[in-house]
Amino acid sequence: MNAKPYTIGVLTSGGDSPGMNPCIRAIVRAGLARNARVVGIGNGYEGLINGEFRPLGARDVGGILLRGGTMLQTRRSQAFREPRGQREAIRRMNEYGMDGLIVIGGDGSLAGALALHKQGVNVVGIPGSIDNDIWGTNISIGVDTAMNTIMDAVDKLRDTASSHGRAFLVETMGRGSGYLAVMAGIVSGAEIVLIPETDVTIQDVANAVESAYKRGKTHAFIINAEGSNIKTTELAGALEDLDVGFRTRVTILGHIQRGGSPTAYDRLLASRMGIKAVDALLNGTTGVMTGLQGRGIEYVPLEEVVDTRREINMEYFEMVSLLAR
Ligand code: F6P
Repeated sequence: MNAKPYTIGVLTSGGDSPGMNPCIRAIVRAGLARNARVVGIGNGYEGLINGEFRPLGARDVGGILLRGGTMLQTRRSQAFREPRGQREAIRRMNEYGMDGLIVIGGDGSLAGALALHKQGVNVVGIPGSIDNDIWGTNISIGVDTAMNTIMDAVDKLRDTASSHGRAFLVETMGRGSGYLAVMAGIVSGAEIVLIPETDVTIQDVANAVESAYKRGKTHAFIINAEGSNIKTTELAGALEDLDVGFRTRVTILGHIQRGGSPTAYDRLLASRMGIKAVDALLNGTTGVMTGLQGRGIEYVPLEEVVDTRREINMEYFEMVSLLAR
């Protein structure tokens, strides 16, 4: 008699990030290759509570490797934050016969995964967020694509900035993390970046822009992380009032940073982590997140991931001004 196959549930939760689809594809195909069943859960934890389950076969994930977003859709679930919502989710899993769960998402989603683990659910997390604020992994799924999107946008803005001799103030996402802004500052050649991790003044920004003007630059870029100490509109107004040489224009990149076809790097990272997460469940490893450490994908306890804040390396912040000569 054949043993009942192991049933893996997979959901995406929180803000979507490019690479979630390749990750779902890897989980389905690696799961099937190891004789497991894979069930897609729609709408994140909300769908877990409501029983939005559908079995996924190899063909169901065909063609999604190159697509941004998530075919399973995602939500930020308020109901799941409550113990009652979590109990209902567990009841649904048991009723369906789900043996393990893979959660792809950011810090809030991983905290949800930990809550389930503490109540006896077999669960593995995969870091998916453009913010790169998750402890235990060098990089999360979606960061590389978002970075390339920002770089591409600033490259285009530079054309028009140079033609008109203007400064551009560009706002990036990242919530409480300055990672995207700092890295974008380096790869896009910004004069100065503003990030939540350290305060700068309006005068610091004005000085950096004016100095670029006086050094004969044809353009200047200021990258403002959405969580920095100065709001973009306030800074734009102040730069217009102060005479910094350049006139300033503002571009808020917004959710464009969350979309688009995942880069080769993100597809590869997502595929590796998806396989590693399936292996964890089938080998009885639970309560962990897949993390890129050095060149390998390792298992990091969810408890450690949720309890630890990922700081950015301030050497990168210094690099921006060093290279803006
Ligand atoms: O966490 C990803 C992120 O894009 C943050 O950078 C941003 O602050 C937030 O999500 C935006 O959330 P929403 O899509 O709910 O507006």
